[in-house]
Amino acid sequence: MDFKSLNKNIEHAIADISEVASYLWQKGWAERNAGNISVNINEFITNDIRNLVDGGLYPHSPLTTPLPALSGHYFLLTGTGKRMRDIARDFEHNGLMIKVSDDGSGYFLIKADPSQENLLPTSELPSHLAIHHQLIKDGKRERTVVHTHPNELIALTHIPEFCNQQALNNLLWGMHPETMVVVPEGAGFVPYLLTGSQEIADATLVKFRNHQVVVWEKHGCFAIGKDVFEAFDLIDTIAKSANIYFQCRAAGYQPEGLTDDRLADLKILSEKFRS
Ligand code: 13P
Ligand code: ZN
Repeated sequence: MDFKSLNKNIEHAIADISEVASYLWQKGWAERNAGNISVNINEFITNDIRNLVDGGLYPHSPLTTPLPALSGHYFLLTGTGKRMRDIARDFEHNGLMIKVSDDGSGYFLIKADPSQENLLPTSELPSHLAIHHQLIKDGKRERTVVHTHPNELIALTHIPEFCNQQALNNLLWGMHPETMVVVPEGAGFVPYLLTGSQEIADATLVKFRNHQVVVWEKHGCFAIGKDVFEAFDLIDTIAKSANIYFQCRAAGYQPEGLTDDRLADLKILSEKFRS
């Protein structure tokens, strides 16, 4: 089944995933199979497509936590162990579709090429689906989740003084005016937990109640957006702040940062942009 030919919306969603996958690689944030992307494409699934796609469903895999608000929803996601640079040039051999079962207790795999037996969803599926579930429950407009490993953000979380949410955000906001404008609520911070676990998914979910982007200690970050570009932009913005900090330090200076008054003005500006 050629996913791209299902309809224009799905074709565009795949093109967008591919484009952002190439940015993640070019940024140097996607070593080997690092990072993963998921998009809820339920709104693009017409009855015709449903009939076609449901004919190719693979056996059901159970979810650790049932996700009733995602019952029957379809997602495009990157495969576990797949390289972002390969996803960028060929989504259909490096990514797949899943359909959550009608009772929300598990999911079915849908592959463009069913002979690819080793093509399975990203190991961070628990976090991706937990976030999508909350977005639907809350009636939010975001439909995409991007996870990547930005060197500069990981490096910051190796410095004990930035391993708490307030200190981390004070630093990120202070390094560049745009960060307060784009991410006024700051980044959520999740202390180190085992990658791919339900535990890290649960901790991440709590942070997405009040944030659009969440940093995982010594690992990377997650962001949500109405499309993959919006999610990418959030990560790119906070990574730039972290970069500026390290550039000043590498040049032998402790950066001055923006004053509280300047940050307060920028916060007002950000509220104006959002209203
Ligand atoms: P996957 O290859 O399973 O998507 O894992 C990559 C990753 O970044 C894990 O955190
Ligand atoms: Zn990761």
